[in-house]
Amino acid sequence: MKKLLTIFLTAAMALSFAACSNSSTSSAQVADNAQNTSQAENKDEQSAAVSDTANDDTSAENNDSSEGGKILVAYFSATNNTEGVAQKLAEGLGADIYEIIPEQPYTDDDLDYNDSGSRSSVEMNDPSARPAISGTVENMEQYDVVLIGYPIWWGEAPRIMSTFIESYDFSGKTLAAFCTSASSGFGSSDQALRSAASGATWLEGERFSASASQEDILAWANGLGVK
Ligand SMILES: Cc1cc2nc3c(=O)[nH]c(=O)nc-3n(C[C@H](O)[C@H](O)[C@H](O)COP(=O)(O)O)c2cc1C
Repeated sequence: MKKLLTIFLTAAMALSFAACSNSSTSSAQVADNAQNTSQAENKDEQSAAVSDTANDDTSAENNDSSEGGKILVAYFSATNNTEGVAQKLAEGLGADIYEIIPEQPYTDDDLDYNDSGSRSSVEMNDPSARPAISGTVENMEQYDVVLIGYPIWWGEAPRIMSTFIESYDFSGKTLAAFCTSASSGFGSSDQALRSAASGATWLEGERFSASASQEDILAWANGLGVK
């Protein structure tokens, strides 16, 4: 019975996001938010472990600049999905990894896309919103390639990704974005980021499901020719 309910909710969620609309609400979205809520709770437990490796500027041993260049995987993840993809990507490439941590963490209420007054709704309705980031990438100059990950929020990259991209000079670097979503495709979700870092060479981005295999994730990265 529980399995049937899960299948039903998953299918309903996929339909609800197909339109990528900020204004539409449905009970399926509420169901997904409940899932996000429990994921967010898990995130609290896991974030300490992740930030140890993400933000201490440690280099993976084989992040060798003599090949395609030194690679950084930088990601924001509110409920862990993008984090899982980012970790598989960085581990597979031998890249450094950096978590974009909001100065003010997103609560479950903040992530409630059924509430037009929620923080995420308000931010995404304001293209100039720039949520503050806690911490910085040390020595961004050392990276030749930056792979940038985020969850899709109403078809776009969350505004905090604009904060990130505007915080550094990416001129001359090679960039590519990846995202996770409930069902939306990659679309033009990196458009604002591309505009903000127009001096970089942007490669084609990719959308992954939360459960994407490392093989699939690396197939995208290797296809970019960055390694
Ligand atoms: C505010 C908000 C808006 C979202 N908008 C979309 C959307 O437009 N399309 C979609 O497929 N999923 C959407 N989702 C679902 C997330 O993209 C999906 O759960 C993603 O994997 C979450 O990644 P994270 O765990 O790294 O935060 C949205 C989630 C939130 C919280």
